[in-house]
Amino acid sequence: MSTPSPESDPFELAHHAARTLAERTGRDRHDLFVVLGSGWAHVAELVQGGVDVAMGDLPGFPTPSAAGHGGVIRSVEVNGLGVLLALGRVHLYEGHHPNTVAHGVRTAWAAGCDTVILTNAAGILNRDWPLGRPIVITDHINFTGVSPLTGLDPEPPLQGRFADMTAAYTPALRALVRRVEPSLPEAVYAGFRGPQFETPAEVRMAGIVGASLVGMSTVTEAIAASHLRMKILGLSLATNLAAGVSDEPLSGDHVLTVARTHAAWVADLLHRIIIEIASESPRSNRNP
Ligand code: HPA
Repeated sequence: MSTPSPESDPFELAHHAARTLAERTGRDRHDLFVVLGSGWAHVAELVQGGVDVAMGDLPGFPTPSAAGHGGVIRSVEVNGLGVLLALGRVHLYEGHHPNTVAHGVRTAWAAGCDTVILTNAAGILNRDWPLGRPIVITDHINFTGVSPLTGLDPEPPLQGRFADMTAAYTPALRALVRRVEPSLPEAVYAGFRGPQFETPAEVRMAGIVGASLVGMSTVTEAIAASHLRMKILGLSLATNLAAGVSDEPLSGDHVLTVARTHAAWVADLLHRIIIEIASESPRSNRNP
């Protein structure tokens, strides 16, 4: 499917994609959207059944080009909850418009999802945290220089473009994660545009302004989700010490290797979180 111009109405395009998704999955609405970034995709093996739709078959979705990003949306049911798993995402560093990066979240919202889990791989500034373990995102700093709300003036009932980001990463979802796995640290995520890794000076700057995680995704999607008043859980997989925090050189291959090594534990954790969200959801006892 060709990619429509980013100037077209992104919400209309999202509704269009959601209608196609409903046709292809046979399910009118979904409840939870989970974006599986580097190292997180193995959760798809723990949820049984489901229907796969290639992102390239949905209006407005380009096929991801980044290694480790599959390009499929899977619809599954977990304890009565309709879950959309995005196996892979697209990034600003692939050259995409912010509206294209935000399109998955907007489509999920149009499909009925009120909650999104955004996962990623990240460099960490704190040497005490173990590699291969997740960190819960409390807030973000957008160093990408762009926003998916630029130029938009959405019609009511949508929130205007001056979206409130005060509690973007939903405190109740962070509390839910603490109940599932109390050992996870929490931190602020600094989102850079990439694709180059940060310089040690950029990492020091991120630390001075309060971040302990650096990565190249998530912030654009979180802004779009927050604008749509979706509940957001952000999870970063610590794959490396950020540039300059250690003397080790950084490489994309190393990030993927660390992510793969810890994939089973990470997938199990995310599965437990999804089950907990399902069990707390009023929808979980209902048939779809
Ligand atoms: N920086 C940016 N993105 C990343 C990193 C990093 O150190 N590790 C994994 N993704």
